[in-house]
Amino acid sequence: MRPTIFVLNGPNLNLLGTREPEIYGDETLDDIAGQLEDRARDLELTIDMRQSNHEGHLIDWIHEAQARGAKAVILNAGAFTHTSVAVHDAIKGVKTPVIEVHLSNPHARESFRHVSLVGQAAKGTIAGFGALSYMLALEAAARF
Ligand code: DQA
Repeated sequence: MRPTIFVLNGPNLNLLGTREPEIYGDETLDDIAGQLEDRARDLELTIDMRQSNHEGHLIDWIHEAQARGAKAVILNAGAFTHTSVAVHDAIKGVKTPVIEVHLSNPHARESFRHVSLVGQAAKGTIAGFGALSYMLALEAAARF
């Protein structure tokens, strides 16, 4: 069986494509999933892409990634990035490496986005490259 990469997306990312396109671009989450799946095929990996507006789902999925022996988690926790001790603790609680991704560069935005509780637990962070942030994270995960 091919190693699996979980790609977990938090609140409001279901709106990609129409949500503040000047910040997040005009690609939808399905477009990003398609791009990742194409590249994953070449890398002999499987992508398991999910989105939820609920914090607990992200936590359950991080646990599930470990239980299923996923190779890595690519996580865009959306606004929970800046608020969720529980997501931080979930990342700390598993051995599965977690890569934090963002479409935008939170450090170049409002000050409330400058703290990342996800980034303080993640293996690394890729931010500011739009949909390419996800692809760069996949390239990193493939090398773990
Ligand atoms: C985001 C950045 C967060 O600050 C914001 O709350 C999001 C999207 C990004 O991908 O740029 O929902 O995670």
